[in-house]
Amino acid sequence: MILIKIGGSLLYNSKTLLKKLKDFAINYNKKIVIVPGGGIFADVVREVDKNLRLSPSLSHKLAIKSMDFVGEIYSELGNIKSYSTLFDLKREIPNEKIGIILPSKILLSIDLAEHSWNITSDSLSLYIGKLLNVKDIIIATNVDGIYKNNNLLKEVNASEIDEWTSVDIAFPKLLKKFKMNAYIVNGKYPERVIDIINNKNTICTKVIGWQNISV
Ligand SMILES: Nc1ncnc2c1ncn2[C@@H]1O[C@H](COP(=O)(O)OP(=O)(O)OP(=O)(O)O)[C@@H](O)[C@H]1O
Ligand SMILES: [Mg+2]
Repeated sequence: MILIKIGGSLLYNSKTLLKKLKDFAINYNKKIVIVPGGGIFADVVREVDKNLRLSPSLSHKLAIKSMDFVGEIYSELGNIKSYSTLFDLKREIPNEKIGIILPSKILLSIDLAEHSWNITSDSLSLYIGKLLNVKDIIIATNVDGIYKNNNLLKEVNASEIDEWTSVDIAFPKLLKKFKMNAYIVNGKYPERVIDIINNKNTICTKVIGWQNISV
């Protein structure tokens, strides 16, 4: 199973990526699961929070529900079925090959993430990854990867990232905790996302949270 988080930053640039992923999943018999970001809807929650000083828990809940909004839109744009339970996703993906998770029901039920703005859709998609038992996650966003001093990093160890980048600040620690690796890639270039799935070198940043050191 291939897990791809498609950031809300790609809301207006997602159609080609969604179409390419659907064709790829069906033509190459790959199971692809998409987790949406919160995008402008989460930005609205952040704005309201700033003005009304909502409780961290309410902001957290509403920001998670923002991911459902983006998920519903990606579902219509890509003509890809959406699921709000892993039970339904797992039952249908053998035939459908590709599915979009509307994560609020799952994430609010398990309620394992810290209720703070340090946790955004990047970290929340790792919790979904954990529940689906995947080792790698592709994070599609609106930049080519993670930059340090204006240089695009090809590979970086999660423990070397201690600030906000194109992924949220909690992401590197969680990646290590869940023993996962991540590929941060620009979703405006769907061919790069396909290259990562095919283990081909491409323009992205690999974040290493876990190294399989076989003796
Ligand atoms: N060091 C960095 N390297 C790369 N991008 C960075 C860095 N620091 C900040 N950014 C910003 O992070 C942005 C991507 O994160 P953003 O949260 O806006 O999008 P997203 O995660 O794809 O969307 P969403 O949060 O809605 O899912 C980039 O557009 C860039 O401006
Ligand atoms: Mg983000």
